[in-house]
Amino acid sequence: MLRIAILGYGVVGKGVDEIASSLSDMKVTRIFDRPVLKDTIGPRFSSLEDILADKDIDVVCECMGGDALPYTAITAALKAQKHVVTSNKETVSKHLDEYLTLASSNGVSFQFEASCMGGVPLLYPLTNISSFDKMTKFEGILNGTSNYILSQMEENSLSYDLALKGAQEKGFAESDPSADVLGIDTKRKISIISSIIYKKTFNPEEVPCFGIAGITADMLEEAKKENATIRLIGSIKKLGDEYELFVAPTLVNKNSLFGQNANETNAISAYFSKNGPLSFQGPGAGRYPTAAAIVQDLERILSNGQAPLGSLKEKAKIALALKGKFVCYTKDGFKEVKENPMASDLVKYDVVIKDGRL
Ligand code: HSE
Repeated sequence: MLRIAILGYGVVGKGVDEIASSLSDMKVTRIFDRPVLKDTIGPRFSSLEDILADKDIDVVCECMGGDALPYTAITAALKAQKHVVTSNKETVSKHLDEYLTLASSNGVSFQFEASCMGGVPLLYPLTNISSFDKMTKFEGILNGTSNYILSQMEENSLSYDLALKGAQEKGFAESDPSADVLGIDTKRKISIISSIIYKKTFNPEEVPCFGIAGITADMLEEAKKENATIRLIGSIKKLGDEYELFVAPTLVNKNSLFGQNANETNAISAYFSKNGPLSFQGPGAGRYPTAAAIVQDLERILSNGQAPLGSLKEKAKIALALKGKFVCYTKDGFKEVKENPMASDLVKYDVVIKDGRL
């Protein structure tokens, strides 16, 4: 049983409470937030001091955002030999080396999968791959709020301000959304990704960064005429001994992975010497995707990094009837359309095409 304290009961913290509390091997026993939330939180409401002093807390989930208080809380929790999981890009990008060193010297784990690309497992696979393969290039849409604004302006002719309001209402934006629209959130994320790939400290303050605040409907209209659109792209390239990191609104082909990527969805492509390009795409912001990434880290702590697979005891019952419409051909051109067929019936055809439009 993993006993958890949550710091910050906002969009993400509430989601973590909901998911973790539904699992039999986790229990959220304490929650810290501002005193005004004391009544809303109820008996689990605790001070930071009580959480740090509680020997029965195994993991602290930091979901507050910002840097000053998270830094104090994370360093103190690691020193108190509690595992720490966070979704906070700002504090991870500024102090990753210190957090990892503290975790290791105190025999606990520091996990931050949720800090980049929300619900998409990205950092863990990239860390594994880069232990034996070299990443040569990385490009991606890593900020859900900016992507939501650009795609809403483009597809639904929403004004910049209305689109930003929508992203805030849906819980995608930071409490100060300038971090999203000025590209600051993206430069923090590419600094974290560079750190885990190249095992070096990257200072986000040194990353050249241009945001989307000046993008107008006219610019998107211009791009449309050339079958293109504009997306906020963070990129990483290794050039000899140097690393080129930058964030900028970028013209992309409308039919490309990035051009087709709408709303808060994130998408990245990572190029390795022996593999790839590998593309990852999925929800990059919002309560449940981010909370789900935090819970993945909690599961990793529970299982010491092993996939929580257990053993395969039971034989699964695979359905013999397939749902949907299938167009079936034989070699001599005979064509037949089958609705909800038995799988065994399809075996006699040479070509079987499922009608995925249904
Ligand atoms: N504000 C961030 C975004 C949240 O819009 O992508 C997820 O990191």
